[in-house]
Amino acid sequence: MVPRDVKRILTGIKPTGIPHIGNYLGAIRPALALASLPDTTAMYFIADYHALTTIHDGKQLDHLTREVAATWIAFGLDPEKTLFYRQSDVPETFELAWVLACFTPKGWMNKMHAYKAHLDASKEDDKDAGLNIGIYTYPILMAADILLFDSDLVPVGKDQAQHVEIARDMAQRVNHAYKQELLRLPAAKVDEQTATVLGLDGRKMSKSYDNTIPLLAPAKQLRKTVMKIVTDSTPPEAPKDPDKSLIFDLYKLFASPAQVAELRARYQTGIGWGDAKGALADVIEATVAEPRKIYDELVADRARLDGLLARGAEQARAYAAPVLKRVRDAIGMRRA
Ligand code: TRP
Repeated sequence: MVPRDVKRILTGIKPTGIPHIGNYLGAIRPALALASLPDTTAMYFIADYHALTTIHDGKQLDHLTREVAATWIAFGLDPEKTLFYRQSDVPETFELAWVLACFTPKGWMNKMHAYKAHLDASKEDDKDAGLNIGIYTYPILMAADILLFDSDLVPVGKDQAQHVEIARDMAQRVNHAYKQELLRLPAAKVDEQTATVLGLDGRKMSKSYDNTIPLLAPAKQLRKTVMKIVTDSTPPEAPKDPDKSLIFDLYKLFASPAQVAELRARYQTGIGWGDAKGALADVIEATVAEPRKIYDELVADRARLDGLLARGAEQARAYAAPVLKRVRDAIGMRRA
């Protein structure tokens, strides 16, 4: 039987890019808010082995892993309260992934959108070109991440909800095969409100569009990037509609209600785009100034960050061990 305790919230963070403000608003901030709810255990981890599907430069993967981990801590993740670890430090994950693979019909993987996107982009006569099996079976590793910890809730972006569904389906298959509740069924949690943050050019903020605002870049660079937000040629003194302004949309996500009301009034009486962008840069800077200091220290102190993550991994493995044992016992690998 699956023991019940407080609700377990788990999510993985793929270290494939330096975090930008879309990551902060869409993932970091909501996940940290969830982690502070009572009666929950939050388990957040760096999915470095998922990043290996695409990043084959060891130095780069190491840097990104550290930068992403330091970012979460800088914004308030408390490793004393939240389990925070690297996927690669929890070998139980890979054992469970194999077990799950043996219960995963190949057809399920064919339907996964990352694979389908690859098919759509590839040539008719060579659908396998440029596709490693790691990408194809990515959802199995992700299911292992989730099911290994008896997760209840998995906060993810819209694009990842399908993977959580499939993890649930795998758990059901395993439970059905051994006629017991071996694996807890997880549910995805998609935050609709902040799911999509728009970038400099008005499209979804994304590394692949090169339209991001970096989160912890030096103050000067942050301001410079904000100034690149694309605007029209309405003259400064002309009244402007705040509800049709990308700058205002972003401002609302960082500013207090009083600040929002004040900038709204300025839009209505006429504000130059440069001033509006300056106001936006100010509220972002106010949010990131402290975290930037913590981040800079952590990134420079390799031993401290490693120690922190190693402690997290040790705690995570203590959660994982009984789950994996349950599974091993049931599948016929019981040891006296
Ligand atoms: N696939 C997720 C992403 O690309 C990262 C991830 C890996 C994850 N394992 C997970 C998310 C487990 C939630 C739960 O963003």
